[in-house]
Amino acid sequence: MDTVLTGVKTTGTPHIGNYVGAIKPAVEASVRPGARSYFFLADYHALGDPELTSRTTLEIAATWLACGLDPDKVMFYRQSDIPEIPELAWILNVSTAKGLLNRAHAYKAAVDANVAEGNDPDHAIMMNLYNYPVLMAADILMFKATKVPVGKDQKQHVEMARDVAQRFNHHFGETFVLPEAVIGEDVATLSGLDGRKMSKSYGNTIPLFASEKDLRKLVMKIKTNSLEPGQPKDPSDSTLFDVYKAFAAPEQTAAIRERYAAGIAWGEMKQMLFELINAELAEKRAEYERLIASPAHVEKLLREGADKARAISRPFIAEIRERVGIRPLAR
Ligand code: TRP
Repeated sequence: MDTVLTGVKTTGTPHIGNYVGAIKPAVEASVRPGARSYFFLADYHALGDPELTSRTTLEIAATWLACGLDPDKVMFYRQSDIPEIPELAWILNVSTAKGLLNRAHAYKAAVDANVAEGNDPDHAIMMNLYNYPVLMAADILMFKATKVPVGKDQKQHVEMARDVAQRFNHHFGETFVLPEAVIGEDVATLSGLDGRKMSKSYGNTIPLFASEKDLRKLVMKIKTNSLEPGQPKDPSDSTLFDVYKAFAAPEQTAAIRERYAAGIAWGEMKQMLFELINAELAEKRAEYERLIASPAHVEKLLREGADKARAISRPFIAEIRERVGIRPLAR
């Protein structure tokens, strides 16, 4: 039986690209029989802005719950509620080569940017960036995950976790299960308002739980071209079509394709897109708002999740401590 584990950094408000690309497929996968699922909020990975960390922890927890993640069926917890994780991260340093971390893409990109600007290569680079892959390895290895669904940009981190685990097992004896990254090839990368990839860093997102009014406004802002109603339009060059497709059933997409050929007006297409997204999200949005208004309830669910997760991490860290020689001096 597979153990599927994935974490979400608490660094921003989820947008509809996160929903179609990550949240929806993950929630669907979590109810399929035959796998144990772990979902957690990676708040130790997101330190820096206290208000942002704490607000997005609530927002992301509420988002996943509103989208149907069932804490009775999956492990749902906050990383910082599991003290065994940072403890393991420290222990894993013993089997993590510095040269391995030197090769991490995120660190290398920061070094390259410094060099390009004529700065010291490590200028303003903090250890939390450098050590990020070790903490992530601890997240994964602690729960013996076999499959780790992540975006392409995280593949290297999962491979590093594997490397670190292998080295540890070799030195201290079989302890960790070697994880494998699962990269959703067909996962939609959604286009944003301006037609580029929807991304927080481009400022072109549609927040997943924007109010109905804001959702409508944002959909109306999606970039189109100047073709008039009645002129045939090309779906392969249309952000509206891209987003529609991500939310629609195949029959709906096929029907819209025909409307494009027949020259649908952009205004009508925008209205149809708004209605489609809103129909999918309206109920979830109401649940989200209810959860955001009850932080104590969300906190309670996270604590319960942590209790369940710690029932696994506590005995495992005891075993790991034994292995590395952290033992009572007398029994
Ligand atoms: N680094 C991941 C990201 O930026 C988040 C993450 C932290 C994670 N720990 C993890 C993902 C463990 C999978 C498994 O998206």
